[in-house]
Order: sequence, then C-alpha cells, then structure tokens
Amino acid sequence: MKICSWAKSLLPIATLILTSSISFSQMAPSSETFVNNLMPQPASLQASSGGFVLNAQFHAVTTHFNDPRLDDAIHRAILQLRQKTALPLSVEPVAAGTEAPLTIDVQGAGEAVQSVDENEAYTLSVTPAGAHIEAATVVGAMHGLETLVQLVQPSGSDYILPIVSIHDSPRFPWRGLMIDCGRHFEPMDVLKRTIDGMAAVKLNVFHWHLTEDQGFRIESKLYPRLTGVGSDGLFYTQQDARDLVAYARARGIRVVPEFEMPGHSTAWQYAYPKLSSGTPPPAVRRDFGVSDYALDPTREETYQFIARFLGEMATIFPDPYMHIGGDETPAPDWKTNPRIIAFMKAHNLKDNGALQAYFNTRVLKILTGLHKHMVGWDEILNPALPKDIVIQSWRGEASLTQGAQQGYQGILSAPYYLDGMKSAGTHYLADPLPSSSSLTPEQRKLVLGGEICMWGEQIDAGTIDSRNWPRTAAIAERFWSPEDVTNVDDMYRRLNVVSIQLEGLGLQHITQEDAYLRDLAGTQDIDQLRIFASAFEPVSFGERYHQQKTSQLTVLDRFVDAVRPDPPSRYEVAHLTENFLKSPQSDTADAAALTQWFEAVSNSVPTVENQMQHSPRLAEAQERAQQLPGLAKAATDAIHFLSSGTKAPAGWKASTTAQIEAAKKPSAVVRFVFIDSLTSLVNAVQE
Ligand code: ACM
Repeated sequence: MKICSWAKSLLPIATLILTSSISFSQMAPSSETFVNNLMPQPASLQASSGGFVLNAQFHAVTTHFNDPRLDDAIHRAILQLRQKTALPLSVEPVAAGTEAPLTIDVQGAGEAVQSVDENEAYTLSVTPAGAHIEAATVVGAMHGLETLVQLVQPSGSDYILPIVSIHDSPRFPWRGLMIDCGRHFEPMDVLKRTIDGMAAVKLNVFHWHLTEDQGFRIESKLYPRLTGVGSDGLFYTQQDARDLVAYARARGIRVVPEFEMPGHSTAWQYAYPKLSSGTPPPAVRRDFGVSDYALDPTREETYQFIARFLGEMATIFPDPYMHIGGDETPAPDWKTNPRIIAFMKAHNLKDNGALQAYFNTRVLKILTGLHKHMVGWDEILNPALPKDIVIQSWRGEASLTQGAQQGYQGILSAPYYLDGMKSAGTHYLADPLPSSSSLTPEQRKLVLGGEICMWGEQIDAGTIDSRNWPRTAAIAERFWSPEDVTNVDDMYRRLNVVSIQLEGLGLQHITQEDAYLRDLAGTQDIDQLRIFASAFEPVSFGERYHQQKTSQLTVLDRFVDAVRPDPPSRYEVAHLTENFLKSPQSDTADAAALTQWFEAVSNSVPTVENQMQHSPRLAEAQERAQQLPGLAKAATDAIHFLSSGTKAPAGWKASTTAQIEAAKKPSAVVRFVFIDSLTSLVNAVQE
C-alpha cells in the first residue's frame, strides 16, 4: 500500500510541512468504504461497504442496565461525536427502552472495585438502521463507545458509521501507563487529560508513582511532614487523589498507587529522620540517579510507620493492588551500620538482597492485612516471597520469564520506557508474551500484561504530553490487540489519526512544540523554525542525563524540550527512503518528495540562524544548524546519483560518511531524525 501521497500534491512543500509535516490519511478519505483507523485494532472485525448516516437526531438509549457511570460515558461519547461531525447532538438523557439509532445493552455494572478480572469485552454492530453495543459490564460498554467514536468517517457531505460487526476483548487484562510525579510534579489537569487519552486507546491501569527521592506527592494526615517538608509544596491532597480515582473509574481505569520503599525514599527520611538506615539526608534530593538512602528495615518503628501510612492510603486507593517500588536499593548503610549488621547476623540474612526480601515479607504482611496484593519492580523477585506478589519487569524481559517460571504473576515494562526516546515502531514490536516465549501454557497465564513507563527526570507539565503521546497509543494497541497485528506502516498511518483524536481530548502533544518554539525564538514567526525542528528529536534519557547533568532544578525549556520524540518526519523520511531504494531509477515521486524535504529543512537554516542571534537558548542548537545543510546536500546528492544511475566522484562516500559520523556526536542533546535514512542512501551510492 502506498501511504505517502503528499509527494504528488501540488501544494508547496513548505505548506505541507507547516500544516502538519505529515500527510498519510489523517484527513480520512471521504468514502462509503470502511477506512480502518481504529487504534487499538479489535480482536475481530468484519466490514462491508455503506454506513449509517449520522444526523442531528442521533442519540443513544440503554435497553437493559444503566447507571450514572454508563450515562456519563454515553454523554462523553456524544460530545466526541459532536466534535467530530459538528452535528448539534443532544446530550439529554433518553428514557431507557426507547427506540434509538444507538442502542446499548449492558448486563450490569461490573465489579464494585474494578480489578484485573473485570470483563472488558463488548460487541458493536453497525447496520444501515443504526448501531448496537452489547457488553457484560459498563467497562466493556465504555470500550465499545470509544470504538464507535473512532469509527466515524466522512462520506460525501455526511459523516457515517461504517457497516461493521466487531467482537472485541483485550489480549491482556493489565494495560498500564506509569507516570512519575515524584521527580516533577504533574498538575491534576495533566493527569486527567492523560486518563482521557488512556481511555481513548483502552489502557486500563494508571500507575501513579507518588513518592521519590525528589518529592513526596501524596498528603498524609498521619504524617504531615511527608509533604510538609518533602514536596516543595507540590503534592496531591487526599481529596485530589480521591477525585482522580473517581475520574479514572468513570473511564474504566484502575489507579494503582506506588509508594517507593526501601530505596528512592530520601523525601520520607528527610521528613522523618528516624526512618533512616544511617545518617539522615540533609535535604530532599535535587540530583537524579540512584540514591544511597534507604529505610531502616531492622527497626519495628519503620514497620509501624509503614503500616499506619499504607493503612491511610488504603482508604484513598481502593484498587486491590498496591505498588511498593523496591528497585535500586544499594543501601550502603546496611553494610556498615553495626546495628543493621548485627540484625542481619541474628536473622541469618546473608546480604542486602536477603535483608530487602525480609523487609518485603514484612511489608507484604501489612498489605495482606489491608487486603491488598503487592506489586514491585523486579528486584523484589526472591524465593522468600510467596507467589501472590506481582513482578513488574523493568530490567529486561528475563525477569518476567523467570518470575513466571517460579510461579509469579508479572507485568512487562522493560521495552516500554518512553524516556528512551525510541520510535513508536520499536515499542510496538515488543510483545509482552511472544509466541516464541519458552513459557508453558500455565506459566503464560501469569503474564498479566504490560505497562508503559514515563519517568519524570526530564519532563514537566509542559512537555509530558509530547513525550507520552502519541507513542503510548501504539503500545496500547500492543497490549489490547491480537499478537499478529504487527504492521508498522499501518500502525503509523492510524497513529496519525488517533493523534488528532487525542489532541481533541485536550492533550497537547502537538501544540506544545509550537508553543515552545515561539517561546525559544521570542517571536510568532516560526514557520522556518518549525521546519528546522522537524529534523530533530530528543536524545535518549541516558544521553541527556550524561551530556547535560540534569537535576530537578534544570529548567526544561530548551530546544530539546520543544522537539518531539519520533516526530512524523522521522517515519516519513524513513518510509520514503525505503520505498525509493527499492527502485531508485524509476521511483521519481519518492525521489522528489525526499529531495523537497531535505531542501526545505536546509533552506530553513538562514532564518533560524538569524533567530539564534537573538535567542541564546535557541543558539544552543547552533552547531546542529551548521551541520544540517551539509547533511541535506549529501542526501540530495545521493538521491541524484541513485535516480540518475550515475556514480559519485571518488572520495564522496568517505567524506560524506565522515560528515554523518560527526553529526552523530552529541550536540544540543538532540539528534537528527534522518541519520539512518541518510546512511542507507549513501551506502546505496556507487562510487
Ligand atoms: C526503574 O526504572 N528504576 C524501575
């Protein structure tokens, strides 16, 4: 399938880059033929041509069960349909049982507290007479409504629901997104719009990382110093947390809170020094990286504190699971504090790992008393712990497999770290449970699903959306859809559609880039800067960490914060290059599109360099601006050699390769999005 059509457009290239920098089919073709833009893809779908035409009388009735949660979900769906169609749809409730263009048949509310066992299945059928959703639970119906909204497509001068029959249920019951609010606080409106985005792509667990070395973010009335001195005044009140739990439940999403222990606990110990294993920390931590401070696992007072604190949290967070962190606890004090050494000897604990397992066993007892299951990062995997804990694998898939082989349930996160700044396609192809897995059928059942992780060191409220979205939607599909849904090109096509839907829900992953560029340049005249920026993406978390030595005090308003990971231009250039290289002498359309793109980014440089003279912050990318025209020229030269079937002059490949290697070196903590494509082009040239 030929996806890129903009190459053939008569519009000037700059306009295309300005309006969206991508084309694909985000403007869905106007057609009676079903255009499958759904994300995630349903388990089973049959479509035929034609559709149900939406008009201003469109409304829904519930034919069996309904409750306020279902009514709210219908209300939200109608508002989304209004936004998509501009039809003045009524959101007035309609009496149950009345005939309606959309009928919703739900058996019951589902679980009083949504758990991993919630029935999320639904069916959705559209005929020329209307649409019908059936589900056992309200959560299933909500998923059906999200699918219905995504189905809407233009047809002539109307909008239609195409004729489909969908039977859908998730592949994995645990489909999470973790947000670290410890290192940088995220305001409630950011979290709420994140939950809206999660609901749109059928994620169902919001994992709320609430405590860190750099900040304690949840109010405790029993231990008010936790936020009193441990949060810089940036924390969620208990009412905030209850509101978010309710907001998430209304959207079929569980909230699993995480309270990090015994490591990543500087803020706890700064507030309550008695919790410390040695010398208490002098302040809440500003630097990032693994901290040496750990809770003292040998004192009964530590467990009394944890029991009271978790008991208080259990009144706020009804989810059956609580996450206790457990990662990265070097705890040097455990090796040097004579009291702790003596304790370990007395309890026959041979090393720090054994002491942490002892600690976890004690905490598990507290959680069991609160009727909670324990979740922890994969460091908690230890035969000393019973089998009813859940292991979240972050250091690699191996711990998931090892855990399942030992009988532990697990969630995979290692391939879904968004701060690695990998492409959506890379994340998408990482399967929590590939058919090649060595696990037995019984062990496979222990893999509950996966969680996307967004750590907070290098994000804040202004940049979180563009780091999370739209890549998160692609991973959400991995967790929901059948294993064989793996077409990366089609994923990117649909990702561009869902990205617009997410923006409509209030997420700022696209608009944020422009706002930051305006701020950096100090002008609204950013047409050329936007084209320039489309050539870059942020380097990975690790690279930025080492190149910039960020701390909590680093202001995240630089060029690297403006540009987006895996921007549409990266995939588009890669896709055009791949196509072009298949038949370089005949594929004139892709050659022209690539040439235009490289010329456009190169032509943006003089204006941007001029803006840099007035903006020291933007001038950070000066070296990148100097490199860009040469690289773009190398690309257009390569395209010329390849399309004309001519050889490059002697030495061209060596000097071009040297240029590429220089461009791979760190500068402005951003990287060129086209380096791999350029390398492929240059490698294909004959000399
Ligand atoms: C982690 O990334 N330290 C869980």
